[in-house]
Amino acid sequence: MARAAGPPALRIAVIGGDGIGPEVTREACRALNAAASAGLADLELTAFPHGADHYLATGETLSPATFSTLRDDFDAILFGAVGDPRVPDGEHARDLLLGLRVRLDLFINRRPLRLRAPELSPLKSAASAPIDFEIFRENTEGLYVGVGRIENAGTPEEVAVSESVASRFAVERIVRRAFEHAAPRGLRVTLADKANAVPHMFGLWRRVFSEIAAEYPGVASEMRYVDALAMEMIRVPARFGVIVTSNLLGDILSDLGAEIVGGPGLAPSANVNPGVHGLYEPVHGSAPDIVGTGRANPMAAVLSAALLLRDHGADEAADALEGAVDAALARGVRTPDIGGSATTAEVGAWIAGRVASGAP
Ligand code: NAD
Ligand code: IPM
Ligand code: MN
Repeated sequence: MARAAGPPALRIAVIGGDGIGPEVTREACRALNAAASAGLADLELTAFPHGADHYLATGETLSPATFSTLRDDFDAILFGAVGDPRVPDGEHARDLLLGLRVRLDLFINRRPLRLRAPELSPLKSAASAPIDFEIFRENTEGLYVGVGRIENAGTPEEVAVSESVASRFAVERIVRRAFEHAAPRGLRVTLADKANAVPHMFGLWRRVFSEIAAEYPGVASEMRYVDALAMEMIRVPARFGVIVTSNLLGDILSDLGAEIVGGPGLAPSANVNPGVHGLYEPVHGSAPDIVGTGRANPMAAVLSAALLLRDHGADEAADALEGAVDAALARGVRTPDIGGSATTAEVGAWIAGRVASGAP
């Protein structure tokens, strides 16, 4: 019998990448396939070989043809991690990951930091005050534009210049999205900057932030120097709702934030241009120190897949993946980074089994 016409399947390109990237992405795909088998979402997963092996074998980092395919034939990308000691300057990683962020104009890098079980945090305050905030990291500019030069190379007078760019357009759109996210949820918006030392770029950030804050009189907002904010993130993390910041500061703060909610194995992220495209990946990297040992925690990858599902209206499937991670945590099905003895594959199989079972 012909299948009844429904909404088209969600087309997901899967790029495992390097190191533990493919190991954790495999488990996220298992969870996605379980959600699809349970009838919670209609998904079509397609694997791409891109990463260091592919680059060393073919010379391709991200060809124009692959880029067009990813852009035009898929709704979203599920990404693992890139970075390999055999490519010391990381050119393939920059082309792939930073290239996709910029070329798909994925201007928001959302990094939710939620403490899913109090004992996962190294902070004493975690037992009494829930940690649950998001970093909105500007994802297309800042020091990441790669503009710069080396003068007098190889001489004692050598100077390296790296320029940092902030356009009103890019700052305005990320700050506005932070306020739009915060307003209906009653969250405070905090700007993290360094305007006292870097007045040009962060002066613009402060001006734009103040203008947009004035459009949202009902939303509590504040501007913080990033150094003091880093202290506050450790001392009173529960006070934060949304932290909006530049590319580099957001990179650093999101690893700091990951550590207070259980470490790299538990921090997901979404690189998005809402309604246009998205790339979903754990905050962590390729972890060459544990590759092949079965010690990689796949939960950040599973939670990234859940963000992907939620952004595409598959809430039931997203709930199932997140619920399965919480259930695994509660039952001690954990990798060694969070105090368990299960392997990457054992955690992934348990999560997929839980999703398939239909349990909440
Ligand atoms: P990393 O995040 O790869 O590793 C830092 C530490 O965290 C390591 O001790 C690692 O074992 C541990 N860790 C990371 N993920 C884990 C997981 N899922 N489970 C358990 N432990 C985990 O950072 P790094 O060592 O600075 O970088 C390694 C490579 O990854 C570099 O080439 C870097 O450029 C790249 N990188 C890529 C991404 C990305 O693709 N998004 C992000 C960060 C770093
Ligand atoms: C991240 C990573 C990347 C970044 C690297 C691999 C270029 O650290 O996604 O947090 O700095 O954005
Ligand atoms: Mn990072």
